[in-house]
Amino acid sequence: MTDALRLPAEQTHRSELDALKRTDDGPKPAGWALSPKAVLTYVMGGETPDGTEISVKYFGPTRFIETAIATLATDRALLLLGVPGTAKSWVSEHLAAAIAGDSTLVIQGTSGTDEAQIRYGWNYAQLLAHGPSKDALVPSPLFRAMETGKICRIEELTRMGSDVQDALITVLSEKMLPIPEIDGSLYASKGFNLIATANDRDKGVNDLSAALKRRFNVVALPLPETADQEVAIVAKRVAEMAVSLDLPSPKNIKTEIERVVRIFRELRNGETDDGKLALKTPSGALSTAEAIGVVIGGLSHAAYFSDGAFSAEAVSADLLGTIVKDPVRDKAVLEEYLELVLRTRPNDAPYYRALSDLV
Ligand SMILES: Nc1ncnc2c1ncn2[C@@H]1O[C@H](COP(=O)(O)OP(=O)(O)O)[C@@H](O)[C@H]1O
Ligand SMILES: [Mg+2]
Repeated sequence: MTDALRLPAEQTHRSELDALKRTDDGPKPAGWALSPKAVLTYVMGGETPDGTEISVKYFGPTRFIETAIATLATDRALLLLGVPGTAKSWVSEHLAAAIAGDSTLVIQGTSGTDEAQIRYGWNYAQLLAHGPSKDALVPSPLFRAMETGKICRIEELTRMGSDVQDALITVLSEKMLPIPEIDGSLYASKGFNLIATANDRDKGVNDLSAALKRRFNVVALPLPETADQEVAIVAKRVAEMAVSLDLPSPKNIKTEIERVVRIFRELRNGETDDGKLALKTPSGALSTAEAIGVVIGGLSHAAYFSDGAFSAEAVSADLLGTIVKDPVRDKAVLEEYLELVLRTRPNDAPYYRALSDLV
């Protein structure tokens, strides 16, 4: 056992990956740990030929994941696009774990990311003592992925400055990283590829240049289509996270998840679920990931402050914080929703009361 709060996917799901590897007789692209079909089973869930059950990682259309896997077997890189909380990072981690057996080569894109974080840096003590050499070079995750034929993950690609993004063009088109300081170059080993994620809702992002865009195949991950699907995703992730956080799951959790998800969906879609009433929408994305966060917050509150009873009171503070991002505009949106919708539903009376007390 380990004390780590969270382990990478390839460790959490090692027995599943081992079972898939044991029974995998499909053709494998060079450098891959599993065949594309086995990678698909790992992500979408199923069963191996010898009867080992593989849990579902991603709930959503299979064809998106098929396209993503097929892309990674070509010379184009993969860009997962979508609003926040649509499991882009999650899918990227699981794909890297299944394809390369390593999901930890990650670069987080921010406005402060510089070229050295993409390419390589220097150990200055070594550099001063011995001059530029391979030993003085500090490889980036991308460098190591190229060297070892693995998948490099770049999170939030469009938050990095355009000049920094463009450092990727040579890597993706030539599969090579020049190292002029030592008059050398690094040629990517077979199996190397790149999965980037980007948000299509952020303001102030740096759009990809046409030259870079051409090197990516874009797969847009959707929000869950139906309420049932969304409830299933939230229930599964909450159950998994509750175990790892040692939080008890109360009996009524499913019903409360249904209520929270309905509130999220109605506000996000701008209409009640029967389609009869148009509503204003708040500024936040109200994603599935946020619904998971609200329910986990409620579970923690219930466990430590309300004797384990999961109630509207336990989730309402988190719910409010998630819905009201802009204190003026979103507050008006929530007030309208409370009066026009929740107030009229007897089953939602506890939510109406708890939220009305807070806004
Ligand atoms: N369709 C889905 N299938 C499985 N998990 C999902 C889905 N949508 C959201 N999640 C969950 O939401 C959480 C956050 O997703 P994340 O990958 O961080 O979102 P993003 O990177 O798109 O902002 C993850 O724990 C993930 O399990
Ligand atoms: Mg992400």
